[in-house]
Amino acid sequence: MSQETFDPVQQVEVCRVCGGSDWQEVVSFGPLPLANSYLEPGGSLDDEPRYPLGVISCRSCRLLTLTHTVDPEVLYRTYFYVTSDSDTIATHMRGLAELCVERFGIPEGGFVVELGSNTGQQLAAFRDLGMEVLGIDPARSLAAQATERGIETLPDFFSAQTAARVVKEYGRARLLLGRHVFAHIDDVADIARGARDLLEPSGVFAIEVPYALDMLEHNEFDTIYHEHLSYYSVSTLSTLFARHGMRVVDVERAAVHGGSVIVFVSREDAPWEPRPVVAELQELERASGFFEDATYDTFAGRVDHVRQTLAPLVRELVADGKRVAGYGAPAKGNTLLGVSGLNAGDLEFCIDTTDLKQGRLQPGSHIPITSPEHGAQNPPDYYLLLAWNYAKEILGKERAFLENGGRFIVPVPSPRIVSRVEDL
Ligand code: TYD
Ligand code: ZN
Repeated sequence: MSQETFDPVQQVEVCRVCGGSDWQEVVSFGPLPLANSYLEPGGSLDDEPRYPLGVISCRSCRLLTLTHTVDPEVLYRTYFYVTSDSDTIATHMRGLAELCVERFGIPEGGFVVELGSNTGQQLAAFRDLGMEVLGIDPARSLAAQATERGIETLPDFFSAQTAARVVKEYGRARLLLGRHVFAHIDDVADIARGARDLLEPSGVFAIEVPYALDMLEHNEFDTIYHEHLSYYSVSTLSTLFARHGMRVVDVERAAVHGGSVIVFVSREDAPWEPRPVVAELQELERASGFFEDATYDTFAGRVDHVRQTLAPLVRELVADGKRVAGYGAPAKGNTLLGVSGLNAGDLEFCIDTTDLKQGRLQPGSHIPITSPEHGAQNPPDYYLLLAWNYAKEILGKERAFLENGGRFIVPVPSPRIVSRVEDL
């Protein structure tokens, strides 16, 4: 294929889970830049690539998916996202490692493979428990960084082909892990086949994804961006794996990233009987209206409310002489800013703890990203809490800001002003 004809954007026609094609339109955010493509200052701001962003729902299996896919080579080869070094996440990762090892009886020296292993932080927790570990991540610089810190990481996309290679060179795995990566994958059938091949007969594939039920219930629409192709429920994942000779045997709900589920999948003939929670959550999904069009119409209405009210709220404060900045520069913040139309004229800066982001500009809105120290020296009157998934941790450590009269604007489910951690 010549360079000229390569189109990195494809419209989704057929459901990647069930093959259906009866879609309900849910939301449409128009073309937006990639949420993790923080800009170098001084570069041209006019030719930022923008890609369509919208969500539809499959009326057969209720997969929620983006309307368009952006080629993974464009998204992930020079990827910026590093796993947040927050306390919340570090605790979660240690807990997850212990849970997997205990529940599925992984012996010392058991082989654990992680796809989308990023800087290797999660695998390090398994290594601390005595496991053999291997990471697989297409972001070349992250894979190199992880390998350097002692977590061997192949700079590849996970696929049935990669799985076959790992089996040949390293042997089969007791546990395959995918944290916040499965929802990024288009060809999930290939991943399911790869997982089946890679695992020992009693092995387990642990998938952590944002839980669609939480997204709908808490109006977390800003978690919609180009990397997040799919928004899963337990029901939809069960449909998917049943088509590949596998089944969901356990589920844990976790509070991270606005509400996630860790779904444990094994071969149908593996010695793990599905726990009652699997059926219970599927029933909860049904009872919550997950299979009804009206649920998605309601969600779209709530999204519209934020879209209509957030920017006027911020602009009123600014017009009143207040200074407003952003707290955190997470990817989701860029959907929120893009959808609500807030930009560098509204927020002075966004503070973020990530070195790589500091000194850059937010994609789309071009708000400068600065260090938390800069924020502490130039405290605004209001922080728009872009990293709302760490609300408790952040308000907990920003006591001084709050005591000096500072306020947070929490954008979802519906914009509100908070002055005490107790009011969250
Ligand atoms: P993350 O939760 O990983 O979200 P996303 O998947 O939407 O990118 O990002 C959180 C961001 O917030 C990350 O860039 C680090 C930043 N952050 C702070 O700046 N201060 C904090 O205290 C915390 C907890 C996070
Ligand atoms: Zn479907």
